Amino acid sequence: MRRVSKIIEEIHNLLVDKTVLEVACGDSEFSLVSSKYAKSVIGIDLSLNRIRKRDLENTYENVVFKEMDAANLKFEDEYFDITACYNAICHLGEKINKVIEEMQRVTKKGGYLIFMCTWKMEKARLLNLLLDYKQNENVEAYNIDKGEYKIALIEKM
Ligand SMILES: C[S@@+](CC[C@H](N)C(=O)[O-])C[C@H]1O[C@@H](n2cnc3c(N)ncnc32)[C@H](O)[C@@H]1O
Repeated sequence: MRRVSKIIEEIHNLLVDKTVLEVACGDSEFSLVSSKYAKSVIGIDLSLNRIRKRDLENTYENVVFKEMDAANLKFEDEYFDITACYNAICHLGEKINKVIEEMQRVTKKGGYLIFMCTWKMEKARLLNLLLDYKQNENVEAYNIDKGEYKIALIEKM
């Protein structure tokens, strides 16, 4: 969990006491580590097979995992303070724009959509996505560890 811990070290102020949704949570690392700071975390993925049984029946009282399509979130509008996507953009394929639309919908005004990546392909894809938002003043993107990690924050207006 070194990589995800490094990223969360950077953004943990945004998570404190917040309700967090992680889309495409995969093996659940981001959800589990962010739960140290957040009020509650819901991790969703098309399949929860990658999550270790121990973590599914987790001892983390404020984390829940659900099987769900990130492009069709079963949550009300403005339900979460933070919606997050960690190392999954490339895996969302053509659904990516719909996923971002859904993340926008379920994020409260003044909350944040957070995209984080550590893989080369992911970073390239994130940069492309951010070009779509470049006219938008509510976007902040930065590198940590000389570009080894990339983070983009989009404030929900
Ligand atoms: C690279 S993997 C895992 C990323 C995860 N954040 C991690 O660090 O383990 C990408 C994940 O995206 C999930 N995924 C792909 N399309 C999805 C969709 N439409 N809705 C939800 N999850 C999806 C896959 O099931 C897979 O677990």
